[in-house]
Amino acid sequence: MKIQLSTESFASAAVDVLAVAVRSKHVTDDPNVRAIDKAMGGILVPQLKDQEFKGGEGKTFSMLARGRVKAKRVLIIGLGDKAMGSRLHRLLGVIASRSSQSKASLALIAPDLEADTLRCLSEGLITGTYKYTRYFTGDRKPKRELKKLVVLGKGKLTPAAREAVAQGQAVGETVNLARDWVNCPPNDLTATVLADAAAEESKKLGIACKVLDKKAIEKLGMPLLLAVNRGSKEEPRFIHMTYAPKLERGAAKPKKIVFVGKGLTFDSGGLCIKPADGMLTMKMDMGGAATTIATVLAAAKLGLPLEVHGIVASTDNMTGSDAYKPGDVYPSRDGKTVEIINTDAEGRLVLADALAYARDLEPDYLIDHATLTGACMVALGGFTAGLFTNDDGLRDAYQKASALSGESFWAMPLDESLRDQLKSQIADLKHTGSRYGGAITAALFLREFVGKCAWAHLDIAGPAWMDKDHGLHPQGGSGFGVTTAVELLRALSAS
Ligand code: BES
Ligand code: MN
Ligand code: ZN
Repeated sequence: MKIQLSTESFASAAVDVLAVAVRSKHVTDDPNVRAIDKAMGGILVPQLKDQEFKGGEGKTFSMLARGRVKAKRVLIIGLGDKAMGSRLHRLLGVIASRSSQSKASLALIAPDLEADTLRCLSEGLITGTYKYTRYFTGDRKPKRELKKLVVLGKGKLTPAAREAVAQGQAVGETVNLARDWVNCPPNDLTATVLADAAAEESKKLGIACKVLDKKAIEKLGMPLLLAVNRGSKEEPRFIHMTYAPKLERGAAKPKKIVFVGKGLTFDSGGLCIKPADGMLTMKMDMGGAATTIATVLAAAKLGLPLEVHGIVASTDNMTGSDAYKPGDVYPSRDGKTVEIINTDAEGRLVLADALAYARDLEPDYLIDHATLTGACMVALGGFTAGLFTNDDGLRDAYQKASALSGESFWAMPLDESLRDQLKSQIADLKHTGSRYGGAITAALFLREFVGKCAWAHLDIAGPAWMDKDHGLHPQGGSGFGVTTAVELLRALSAS
């Protein structure tokens, strides 16, 4: 499906749904609402008043169309009264297409034809269509889905406007890909399958993608990734994607951004096994990997003038007879030895080796996404990611990017007083501290492996998975982090 950009009049759009946004202070005197009302013979405004539709953020009103309006239905989407911007443009797109599921065609009246508006609207329209239906058969298979998406605008359709629509669409599709990987059941998405998917998508875009199997990982030296993998009969995989922009000869060397993702395709907790309730959603423990892979794909699709790497350490965490145990001591890629305390703190182990590898690429910025700790969810709830960083500039840049994407990040402290908890009597490091500040000690552990890099760790344990639809994100795998990372990369491209 390709989003169409059109300047035809709203009345002549022959679609199932004609959608328009309103702000909460001006529902019935909104010019678009007035125009639709007039074209429908004056029946819209009385309905809105009768239903007391106030246009609150995310609220919708829908009715059958009449009169000169060719669409079957009109959908009025409330956007509240907060300042309009990228987040609300995305939300508008998401709500428009999400509310139109099971319909075949949708036309959305754009608030304006600015490139940024069109980019965010289009991205939202695509992410809003998302539904994971791979395992439905018979009646549960969706009978209809949106096949036609039109953005309606007044004015001149410039090449820049069309390009903005294409960009939003490209990023939206990439987010949906990340969601597919997170939602895929763990019996079907093993480390091998994830790596193959990354390689396949990379190939389509001409991105280099190196995939290391167990033997190659042994040879390269990733003892902590291998320790976590011991209890599994599935092989681990190490993925390294590289997007290098095509630059003109003599152009300055591009900045190098390296993303790293936790790729636990299933986390049983290992011998320190999780209770059944906590294990049910642990296929989502590769959410950081999905975000990492998708971010590199998006950078390539946008042709950003940056060198962007994606690095993923992937395995499941199982309880096989050779599983790693509390009390074990393993070396790491970096050289430091690590005493295993709790086998359920596996993410920081695979990340330690991946970060040490990534650090050697000498990035300008090193950024990891990981569903790392339940403690981060205790601190911030299920919708906000923890942002830990050793670089103030990177913190600012991330917060700016998050304001644009509409995804929520909160800066957390790398509290030096907790560092003592990682001292071991037998090895260089213990890999967990006490329950209190558990997200922070996890971050402090990771910091041991990043060298002197400007680094940010994003603990996405909460928002990588949604129990139900929430704002920009659908139930299930959310693809959280991709759009913020893309906003960050766009900002870095411009600076
Ligand atoms: N994958 C989990 C963290 C997690 C929990 C993600 C809930 C999403 C939802 C991680 O591997 C883990 O088990 N962490 C432990 C660490 C503890 C043993 C120090 C935790 O958070 O309980
Ligand atoms: Mn775990
Ligand atoms: Zn985990």
